Amino acid sequence: MQTISLAGVRVPALGIGTWYLGEGSPAQTALEVQSLRTGLDHGLTVIDTAEMYGDGAAETLVGSAIQGYDRSDLFVISKFYPWHATATKMRAALEASLRRLRLDYLDLYLLHWRGSTPLAETLAGAQALQQAGLIRAFGVSNFDVADLEELAGLPGGDRVAANEVLYNLQARGIEYDLMPYQQKRDMALIGYSPFGSGSGRTIRLPRPIHDIARAKHLSDHQLMLAWTMRDRVLSIPKAATPVHMTENLAVQDVTFTRDELAAIDRAFRRPTSKKPLEMI
Ligand SMILES: NC(=O)c1ccc[n+]([C@@H]2O[C@H](COP(=O)([O-])OP(=O)(O)OC[C@H]3O[C@@H](n4cnc5c(N)ncnc54)[C@H](OP(=O)(O)O)[C@@H]3O)[C@@H](O)[C@H]2O)c1
Repeated sequence: MQTISLAGVRVPALGIGTWYLGEGSPAQTALEVQSLRTGLDHGLTVIDTAEMYGDGAAETLVGSAIQGYDRSDLFVISKFYPWHATATKMRAALEASLRRLRLDYLDLYLLHWRGSTPLAETLAGAQALQQAGLIRAFGVSNFDVADLEELAGLPGGDRVAANEVLYNLQARGIEYDLMPYQQKRDMALIGYSPFGSGSGRTIRLPRPIHDIARAKHLSDHQLMLAWTMRDRVLSIPKAATPVHMTENLAVQDVTFTRDELAAIDRAFRRPTSKKPLEMI
């Protein structure tokens, strides 16, 4: 099983996404809880959620799914809106997230995307939450290199543990500068939407890459996911069913030959210049 270092903890390079979970019928919600537990039972300890997802519904679902698991084995990430990025609002947003999650602390709390609150104020708020024992670590999401450089120059900016960004075969721009920037500084990179996200946005593999997947006994989704995890990225697919979760679990030891990677690069070009950071 591939692992990465996240806020000083060694975690599997495969995590659990939760966007759109907890918003359906009771039967669907029960299946989603089963899906999360399938992941947890097979060692996927990192769960990514946010106050935004279903207006708290995803956090509530995670809160149900993790009942009965040892808290110290879990690594729970949540995110706050940019308009909750002042010290007072962050604390209120965190307390509401913790209530829904039925937890007394988060392992990692992320600013979901950059807004108008000065970063220094958000960093000060995050440090207060850490000192109060309500979060173990603080990070950001959808930050490009210039944003991270600005953060690094502020008091406490050197303690930003992670940046969560879009990363998949069609969104490779971060390989040009953001990925090396973070790797050089040991800042964990969490890659979201490995399949391009659901609802009509899913990436379709061209024939030669589809054939590589078949030859490796992988589905197209499994190839896409394994590829995102090949170089120190924590990938966080969302799977609403135990079947999808089980398929995703199976990719953890997949590796690629040089020829396979070259064929993938021909189909999905590596960036050769700076691209603006993409986000969903
Ligand atoms: N920080 C941010 O700004 C941000 C933005 C977007 C996402 N995220 C995080 O990243 C997570 C993942 O991204 P995402 O939810 O946008 O999209 P995604 O994981 O790329 O794609 C999810 C879609 O893939 C399907 N799927 C999952 N496993 C599959 C498999 N083995 N075979 C076939 N289909 C499969 C899911 O279907 P089912 O649902 O039917 O299983 C769903 O339709 C989110 O849930 C969220 O936690 C963060």
